[in-house]
Amino acid sequence: MTDQSKASGQGFLSIRGLTKRYAGFTAVDNFDLEVPKGELVAFLGPSGCGKTTSLRMIAGLVPATSGRIHVGGQDLTTVETHRRDMGLVFQSYALFPHMSIAKNVAFGLEMRKVPRDEIARRVKEAIALVHLTGKEEHRPAQLSGGQQQRVALARALVIRPSILLLDEPLSNLDAKLRDEMRNEIRDIQKRLGITAIFVTHDQGEALTMCDKVVVMNQGRLEQVGTPVDLYERPKTAFVASFVGRTNRLKAVAKDGTAEFAGQQIAAPPTLSGPVEVMIRPHRVSLSPAADGQGMSGTISRAIFAGDVLQYDVDVAGQVVSVELATRGGETVLAPGTPVSLSWRPQDIFVYGAAA
Ligand SMILES: Nc1ncnc2c1ncn2[C@@H]1O[C@H](COP(=O)(O)OP(=O)(O)O)[C@@H](O)[C@H]1O
Ligand SMILES: [Mg+2]
Repeated sequence: MTDQSKASGQGFLSIRGLTKRYAGFTAVDNFDLEVPKGELVAFLGPSGCGKTTSLRMIAGLVPATSGRIHVGGQDLTTVETHRRDMGLVFQSYALFPHMSIAKNVAFGLEMRKVPRDEIARRVKEAIALVHLTGKEEHRPAQLSGGQQQRVALARALVIRPSILLLDEPLSNLDAKLRDEMRNEIRDIQKRLGITAIFVTHDQGEALTMCDKVVVMNQGRLEQVGTPVDLYERPKTAFVASFVGRTNRLKAVAKDGTAEFAGQQIAAPPTLSGPVEVMIRPHRVSLSPAADGQGMSGTISRAIFAGDVLQYDVDVAGQVVSVELATRGGETVLAPGTPVSLSWRPQDIFVYGAAA
């Protein structure tokens, strides 16, 4: 890090007002972000929200309409892609099919005219880092999808990039391999202490792998925080429903209180009129109606899913999903059974309802 970035107290990667407009359409709108050195940050959001465009602007592959990008205190906004020294990994591995694995990994170093013996040493190291020693002379087609993505990772890391940029790198892999690669990418990123951005539409990947998550929606940044921040203190209804699962119950707020099924729920005093009350299914308690003190309801659906029992409960004309961890020996309550629900005030979020 340069003295300049230390002095200003900014992140290693600093993004200010980054915007991308296409004819009449804003793909990325005034994006601000500070990423400290060595952090793995996720860009999380639904398809089309502007994740790839943001990443490509950071990489210099797409020119920004406005805004600035600094790395280590240096303004890279107008610097060409190949001089930004960023490592890129895409969903499609984009390996050269006719080249050996070793040649694929060496490519970036050859382009940079690194001396031959140093190339050999660094390629060997990078291939070992992704656990592919012994596959140096194979062609990409001779490797599995997961192995090919590891080659892509080695190829990005071998240039010792200032920042590693990954765009949905696990999306083409099957579920089991995805889990393995999650851990592997995280381990390597930590071991190297490299600053990295990981684009994904999968909240599970974002929460489990990353130090911080940037939630995006329609080109805008909704919230930046640690996985715990986003899950426990979502600032918007979008974040609450996109990160983790949640019930969205309709209610009406007035004077700092929303009412649902006879319960008074604290609501932001600024909200008046229709609101959404959000509560996560596993944070709802359920007991047989006879000894219940909370909201009365009737089970409309019961699913035994092994680890959890899932109930849909009709409460005051709305459906509340409830999820209970199984401990063994419980009875699955049948549809039609009266029950009573309760929840802790701190588990509830109230947001203005979308018009
Ligand atoms: N070259 C382009 N011209 C016009 N619109 C584009 C272009 N590239 C992307 N977009 C639009 O910008 C929005 C964001 O795209 P993208 O960044 O690829 O989203 P994500 O990666 O989050 O799925 C989308 O609506 C997409 O259609
Ligand atoms: Mg994308």
